[in-house]
Amino acid sequence: MIEQDQQKANAAREALTHVRSGMVLGLGTGSTFNHFLTLLAERIKAEGLNVKGVPTSLKTARLAREAGIPLIELDEASTIDLAVDGTDVADEQFHLIKGGGGSLYREKKVLQEAGQRVILLEEDKFTTTISGPATVPVEVVPFGSTKTRRELTASGADCKYRLDGEVQFVTDNGNYIFDCTYHDITDIEALHQKVKLMHGVVETGIFVDMADALIIGKKDGSVETH
Ligand code: A5P
Repeated sequence: MIEQDQQKANAAREALTHVRSGMVLGLGTGSTFNHFLTLLAERIKAEGLNVKGVPTSLKTARLAREAGIPLIELDEASTIDLAVDGTDVADEQFHLIKGGGGSLYREKKVLQEAGQRVILLEEDKFTTTISGPATVPVEVVPFGSTKTRRELTASGADCKYRLDGEVQFVTDNGNYIFDCTYHDITDIEALHQKVKLMHGVVETGIFVDMADALIIGKKDGSVETH
């Protein structure tokens, strides 16, 4: 059995085979995506691969710049050919729960714009159907956030403010995140719709119809693409 980090790296290596010169790439966020970023930078240096990246977080933008990956803003990109990102959970219907790194809004925006969406994960994150208990990150406007939390709690969740040490975590968009645990999820798409309609909610970590391929790094060292 190989380590979790190696499973992530194997999935990232497989995703790299989808990259062609001339592409605009959506660059995800997180430890799995960072393996892809490192491998992409190696290919750019070794082959002179001509790609541009649209980052989904300030952190990814910084790492990409340091690695020598050319960047453009989402609003400057006429198209995104391929977006690559990690996930916290995925199921066989390609539902995802994302936002463990707090970048869910920008990740969703970039995936929505991409022609091809490839999601990387390790074996333990893959499940038949997301049914709960599951923790869904929800990005909210800071103003009145305790009131938004009350509404979220009424939807059946146990919601905690995400912290960054002693203080509240603030997203790249200047918002807060609630990590909301739902013990029983019967219809994840309906749950997303319900939460999204709450006043004060910017975005939920439930991603529906935003993956074309799941690349799973397995414990035996193999890689499986769904
Ligand atoms: C970032 O906000 C997240 O959506 C990440 O893509 C997700 O949490 C996966 O993170 P890891 O790759 O670090 O497990």
